[in-house]
Amino acid sequence: LKLDVSSTTGAASSPQMYGIMFEDINYSGDGGLYAELIRNRAFQGTSTSVSPFTAVGDARLSLASTQPLSSALPKSLAVAGGSGTIGFANPGWWGIDVKIQPYTGSFYVRGDYTGKFTASFQSITLKETLASVDIESSATAAGWTQHNFTLTPTKAAGNANNTFSITYSASGVKGGSLNFNLISVFPPTYKNRPNGMRKDLMEALAEMKPSLLRFPGGNNMEGDSPPNYWKWQNTIGPLRDRPGRLGTWSYHNTDGLGLVEYMQWCEDLNMEPLLATFAGLYLGGSVISQSALKPYVDDFLNELEFLMGDATTTKYGAVRASNLGHSRPWKVNFVEIGNEDNLNGGTSSYNSYRFSMFYNAVKAKYPNMTIIASMETKGLPGDAAQDYHTYNKPNAMIGDFSKFDKYDRKHKVIVGEYANINKDSASNIWNNRPLYPWWRGSVAEAVLAIGAERNSDVVIGLTYAPLFCNLNSHQWTPDLIAYTADPAQTVLSTSHVVIKLLSSVRITNLLTTTGDPPKPVYYAAGINTSTGSRILKAAVYDNKGAAVPMIVTFAGVVAGTSATLTVLTAPGGENSANAVGASAVKTEVKTLTAGSGGVFAYSLPDLSVSVLEVKGV
Ligand code: AHR
Repeated sequence: LKLDVSSTTGAASSPQMYGIMFEDINYSGDGGLYAELIRNRAFQGTSTSVSPFTAVGDARLSLASTQPLSSALPKSLAVAGGSGTIGFANPGWWGIDVKIQPYTGSFYVRGDYTGKFTASFQSITLKETLASVDIESSATAAGWTQHNFTLTPTKAAGNANNTFSITYSASGVKGGSLNFNLISVFPPTYKNRPNGMRKDLMEALAEMKPSLLRFPGGNNMEGDSPPNYWKWQNTIGPLRDRPGRLGTWSYHNTDGLGLVEYMQWCEDLNMEPLLATFAGLYLGGSVISQSALKPYVDDFLNELEFLMGDATTTKYGAVRASNLGHSRPWKVNFVEIGNEDNLNGGTSSYNSYRFSMFYNAVKAKYPNMTIIASMETKGLPGDAAQDYHTYNKPNAMIGDFSKFDKYDRKHKVIVGEYANINKDSASNIWNNRPLYPWWRGSVAEAVLAIGAERNSDVVIGLTYAPLFCNLNSHQWTPDLIAYTADPAQTVLSTSHVVIKLLSSVRITNLLTTTGDPPKPVYYAAGINTSTGSRILKAAVYDNKGAAVPMIVTFAGVVAGTSATLTVLTAPGGENSANAVGASAVKTEVKTLTAGSGGVFAYSLPDLSVSVLEVKGV
């Protein structure tokens, strides 16, 4: 491929180009990024069992629904009977990672008990107690009292086959039983946020340098049927006031990871929030009528005021400041009205009133806000943007390389969900999907991303979906990052490696090029005006197995100038995948020197993704 990159700057690129999309699916929040170690900590939802809690000693466990801890948490764990040492144990989210580090915990008790509680970690494999701490009881029958503790193991477990337990002496109990609720244990979290995020998973995200977070869904935001959409008010404030909700992906969400935690996540990774709202369509097809929709629109305005309103002059800004101690408003520049509102009969109501009611109300109050329609829509009002989702096979995804070339520049677009989810040979894309992204799929995703970058005057950004997968229980594969309770088992997929490379070198302005057309080397050239770097991103897709010789010049770059070339390949072949204990991607970093005429001459293997960066010219 022969390519001359000029110094004529084209359109400015979107600073949000590489982002992430999050919804609670595959136990990605609870049991995933949200660092809580105790599963079913507050007996939320419709569950009639105390599972996965088990009795210690000869205690009897049952679910109690009298004398609730709060109206949000009406059920609790009743521990009755027994003699000697009794209590309960919890296995966490398919295991608990126990290391030599301080764990902070808390539980509420109601009942008459004099004596000590003991909180501890046990290793099932080693048959040993790894950490234990005594907590003096302040429990009374008159009400709920919170007990806090810190648990510091003196020995690491070596695996996640561990449980957490609370035990006490049955002889100190008067009245036959004690009730427990909100039994919570956190390891050290990312940036030490209370109620925060799992460190290793946040670090895996930070490696991708994402600049946008699309949340809270996804189908999970919509709920399957009334009244189960994601309600912001239920996700803020003390955990005892959060009821949680039945998510779309067949499990109950604790909502411990709530609106404020999402905003802190954006702060911690320096991401622009893209806040989506329920727009009146439940996933099962039930639609809020036009006459009934206004309260939902008003409630979204309240949510925006809660995030952005002045702490003294606005009602919900004051709630933020007084209840959460966060007087400084956040900034939200992007909102999305719904999610895939074309599904299950939603198109006509979306086009006739649902989108416009939200759009008009938000625009009137926040004229500079980018308001995104949740589907590709003809006849969008004003400067509304639209969301394009694609779950595809690699050969078909290549067709989207030039999709955005044809877009009307009046309306921006975001690729709010994309992924290759099955092999080209699959007769039905949805059946028998691979567990992990694989190399050919990841290269085709790079082609889509590079096509988007070439059009980044109109493309706001792109976000792979789904982001996370708990390998013990999941509803959707493949996913970008897969994990268990044991951080040593985490899989950063081939697609993660590709996004990390493309995102780490940012183009701020496109540069025009002359030379060969972009096939089979799909490329985008640009400059980063803050660093002065000239950049060429390229993916080689299907050159019949042959490497492609590259002859590249950048205007103003003279012979002797050096550049860094990073090339990703998969020596194990197009179907190879990163998996537990297996790494498919080879990363080669080379320094190139421009020859006579400022030419960089190099070769790119078939099925490769690369970035050439000439620094600070
Ligand atoms: O990413 C999984 C699901 O795919 C999302 O929840 C939904 O928006 C899409 O259909």
